Amino acid sequence: MSSQKQSVIILGTGSYVPDNIVTNDDMAKMVETSDEWIRTRTGIRERRFAADDEATSDMACKAGQRAIEASGVDRSDIDLIIVATMTPDMPFPSTACLVQSKLQLPNVCAFDVQAACSGFVYALGIASSMLQSGNFNKALIIGAEKTSPILDFKDRTTCVLFGDGAGAAVLSREEIEGAGILGTIGGADGSDPSVLQQPGGGSAIPASVESIQARQHFLKMNGKEIFKQAVRVMGQASADILEKLGYETSAIDLVVPHQANMRIIESLAKRMEIPMEKFHNNLDRYGNTSAASVGIALDEAYRAGRIQSGDVILLVAFGAGLTWASSLIKWQ
Ligand code: UT7
Repeated sequence: MSSQKQSVIILGTGSYVPDNIVTNDDMAKMVETSDEWIRTRTGIRERRFAADDEATSDMACKAGQRAIEASGVDRSDIDLIIVATMTPDMPFPSTACLVQSKLQLPNVCAFDVQAACSGFVYALGIASSMLQSGNFNKALIIGAEKTSPILDFKDRTTCVLFGDGAGAAVLSREEIEGAGILGTIGGADGSDPSVLQQPGGGSAIPASVESIQARQHFLKMNGKEIFKQAVRVMGQASADILEKLGYETSAIDLVVPHQANMRIIESLAKRMEIPMEKFHNNLDRYGNTSAASVGIALDEAYRAGRIQSGDVILLVAFGAGLTWASSLIKWQ
């Protein structure tokens, strides 16, 4: 999606997860599952579910506010908001517009990106290109997701996997050479949307009594198929961005992967021959927060002191679509 012309750097990050912790034992009260099954098959121990009156935009704003504070940027200088989400507050207006109003950002172009779990990395690539074009100066990108209302609590194969939250970053075009977002690539294959989809609620199957009775407004997934594809496309996206930018795997200091399943991350680590210590994971605490996951993990890694000046960081994600994306960053 972008290649480096000028340096676009991440000035600050932020994240937010709801207070309500739902453990695997709590899930076992809703569906026939166990802490042991969920932990050993996925690595998840607990996840957060947002309150009934807490929408995706509310979580996006909390993460966005923290990123703005961390960046030190005056909010009137932000001229672009991109929110990545597959669970917007409503089909329209965009969640980005709601964030614009709630965060009182007066001078922005605002829109949503729908690339499911790859959304944060897609948003990073798009924002980076728009800043490099010279038409925009500072961007707030947010991955935010309230997955809990679209989970089918009668389907144990999916409802135990996902959680709610938001991750954000403020990007700025700066006169710094050889640092920042070095490049971002993305890809998509929409040939079989049924592997991971929410079939109801759009123009193909508008909401009706029948669609609701058929549970078509819930997330449906062929987990085994997605698992296979995930390892392949994340491995390829990682190799491709390194090759494109002329970096060796050994140059990577930290990998921030999409948090879907620890076995997927371990397979990626093995495939790339990168030790697991170089991966930042929080899947055990938040589950799969879809478009929010890379943003939350990046913020956590930064605040935990895992990212230092000069570090090379690989972001890599995959999700419904299928979509995939990777980005290589040299921290300023
Ligand atoms: O962001 C992208 C989104 N999605 C993903 O990345 C998901 C990718 N896929 C996965 O993570 C894994 O495929 C799952 C975690 C979804 C499933 O793990 P698996 O090792 O592929 O399990 P499976 O689907 O082969 O199921 C094994 C067994 C089945 O029982 P039988 O048929 O062997 O008797 C399932 O019915 O485990 C059963 N099962 C469960 N048992 C207890 C499935 N879900 C559960 C559950 N608790 N929650």
